[in-house]
Amino acid sequence: MTSIWKNYFGLGASSGPIPPTDKAPIRALPANWYTSPEMWELERRAIFSRKWMLITHTLRLPSTGDYLVYDIAGYPFILVRDKVGNINAFHNICRHRAFPVVTEEKGTARIFACKYHGWSYGLNGKLAKAPGYQELEGFDQDKNGLFQIHVHVDNNGFIWVNLDAKEQPDIAWEDDFNKIDMLQRFDGINWHDYQFDHTWEMEGEYNWKILADNYNECYHCQTTHPDLPSLADLSAYAVDTKDASIIHYANSTAEQISCGLKIASTYYFPNASMTVSPHFFFMQRFVPTSATNCAMRYEVYRNKNSSDKDFELINQMYKRIMSEDKYLCIHTQKNLNNGVFVNGELHPRLEKGPLYFQTAVRALIMEHHMKEQEAGHEIWPTRQILPTTARTTEQEMTFCNKLEASSQTRGADCSTTAVECCGGIGCQPDETLVF
Ligand code: FES
Ligand SMILES: [Fe+2]
Repeated sequence: MTSIWKNYFGLGASSGPIPPTDKAPIRALPANWYTSPEMWELERRAIFSRKWMLITHTLRLPSTGDYLVYDIAGYPFILVRDKVGNINAFHNICRHRAFPVVTEEKGTARIFACKYHGWSYGLNGKLAKAPGYQELEGFDQDKNGLFQIHVHVDNNGFIWVNLDAKEQPDIAWEDDFNKIDMLQRFDGINWHDYQFDHTWEMEGEYNWKILADNYNECYHCQTTHPDLPSLADLSAYAVDTKDASIIHYANSTAEQISCGLKIASTYYFPNASMTVSPHFFFMQRFVPTSATNCAMRYEVYRNKNSSDKDFELINQMYKRIMSEDKYLCIHTQKNLNNGVFVNGELHPRLEKGPLYFQTAVRALIMEHHMKEQEAGHEIWPTRQILPTTARTTEQEMTFCNKLEASSQTRGADCSTTAVECCGGIGCQPDETLVF
């Protein structure tokens, strides 16, 4: 399978806009892409439901039954290590009446028991017990396991998920991240020297793309981050792009390296970044919750051999840097909301990262929108795939979709007080909606 990413950047079969390489400035995505609730919902369908997303490291799930609950773009899910050692992921939704199967954030379980009516599931997601259902004919226990999510564990032990409900997701992990775990920058790093230390998080009133734009350039570092000159040679800071990754080169000086401040940061489209240094590695996940809200969730892993002083030096430094970026993002969003600014021009070299990011967003959004136009309805790749026997459900869904479309069009076509009806589809009597 060829990824949209490869196609879009001219690496696959089809052609498309090429990332900027010339010397002219390039206009950024317009402000309404950062404020529109409809765009946010389209991003949930086009991006977060289709792309591989970096979530955590296997160091957090060492033993059978260890589980963690995550959410991304409004999709809560469980990661768990099962009895044969595999990492599984499931939507945190009971197959009976949709109550969350797990209500704690983390723990160790032998079984997942729903607290609503007592259905229970194994660590492999299979339905184990559904009290009373044994008396029903035609209830297939095997078809009522937890909704499975695709998982990939890379060579360095990082865990990725893909929420596409199809048996094979449209996008293979290798399409977007082939050998990203084998980069030379990871040579010599023994991931087992590290141990999980802690999580922390911040809430931000801004669109997730503002944070991605911010993270992927260091043009702002000189003016915003007093700590960064200790970590990087800002005059030589650069990014490179590889499929769905933006690789940051801090070009740390020999002196910085001798202080243990050598860093290697990578952004993984769409939702995460990871920085590894001799004393810690640090994961950042962007967790958008609406068009103008985003949480930033961090996981910090500490080198077991590092002193408290060495670990805290970089740990505290990163906490300050992230807070400084939050301030930038909040105030940028406020001005995008107010209706004056549409967009500015980006520098092809100094803002290569945001340009690459925005090009990818544009491509995925446009491609998915076109598919929806052709299909005549929204496409939700994460949605439960119904059995062929659920015809009535399909009809009921269509009925409701038409109702929604009708009320939207009615509002758009003409008001109920209009003297003359515009005759639009939304103005048709409700009887026409009956299936
Ligand atoms: S919703 Fe879980 S058992 Fe009913
Ligand atoms: Fe920053």
